[in-house]
Amino acid sequence: MTTELLESIAQLRGRIADARRAGRSVGLVPTMGALHAGHARLMEQARAECQLAVVSIFVNPLQFDRQDDLDRYPRTLEADLDVCARLAVDVVFAPAAAEMYPQPPTCGIEVGRVAEHLCGRFRPGHFRGVATVVMKLFQIVQPDRAYFGEKDAQQLAVIRHLVRDLNVPVRIEAVPTVREADGLALSSRNQRLNAEERELALVLYQSLCEARRQMASGVRDAANVTGAARARIPLDDRLRLEYLEVVDPEDMQPVERIDGPVLVAGALWVGSTRLIDNLLCSPPAGRGDACVAPTEEGRDEETVTGARSADRGTPDHERRRRPSGRP
Ligand code: PAJ
Repeated sequence: MTTELLESIAQLRGRIADARRAGRSVGLVPTMGALHAGHARLMEQARAECQLAVVSIFVNPLQFDRQDDLDRYPRTLEADLDVCARLAVDVVFAPAAAEMYPQPPTCGIEVGRVAEHLCGRFRPGHFRGVATVVMKLFQIVQPDRAYFGEKDAQQLAVIRHLVRDLNVPVRIEAVPTVREADGLALSSRNQRLNAEERELALVLYQSLCEARRQMASGVRDAANVTGAARARIPLDDRLRLEYLEVVDPEDMQPVERIDGPVLVAGALWVGSTRLIDNLLCSPPAGRGDACVAPTEEGRDEETVTGARSADRGTPDHERRRRPSGRP
């Protein structure tokens, strides 16, 4: 079976109407292309759970707060189509900007407090742009299920709020983060890193692991956790930590005392590339603030070295199943 490439909304609506008439369920994976193994996990899940798997590839200008970032965003449609064909995706929807925005839109989705912290604080208008294009895609495709990565945890929270607040009839499926062998989260932006920057980039994941280790050892004060995590970022001209915060996983509000599951999330500039990552963490049951040094046993993924190709990235949930956390 071949993957069909559609560029017009009218064609796509026609294709989906045919599938609906035949009683087929529809799954949507929204992407901006430059597809890697993280995207592939979403596509595999959509393929497994829905009878018509649709992948959208659209570099959405509305969500870029910097023109240079939009200009530099990798565009690799031919290679992306190969990935989609290999994964037996039925339809790729790759519209031009003029198809999605024939005139500058005046209406958009206000995202509210879920976008106040983390990336939302540093990228004004970003989540409004994300929510608006995702809502447009939901209107166009009307999928039964839509697939989003935990890698972009705040984006996932924004979409969950959008769907809940505006009664959008779609089921949101969250897919665990896929990582390189050494723990670096797969991202289309990783392509921009040179070899030295690629090495340095790993400290983001390592600092998040440090936060998780602190919590596992009983530290409940979020400032202490983030302080220890920040200390893992070396002083280097090429590195600039934008934020590292502990937030509530549902509403993305900062947490001071860790009493239940929290999200520890960070954004790090490596040279001129901005990377984000996060880990969902739970404190051990029934323990207060501990003053013991965190042990090295358990989840010390930072000792793992040797990044491999994106195709062999490992989802977080599989890493969690491994006894030592090692791939
Ligand atoms: P993009 O960055 O292309 O990501 C598309 C989807 O892939 C998102 O849901 C993202 O969370 C997921 N993803 C990216 N890297 C991942 C990884 N390492 N593991 C698991 N999932 C991963 O996110 C966007 O595009 C856009 O904002 C979009 C939602 C398409 C709206 O324009």
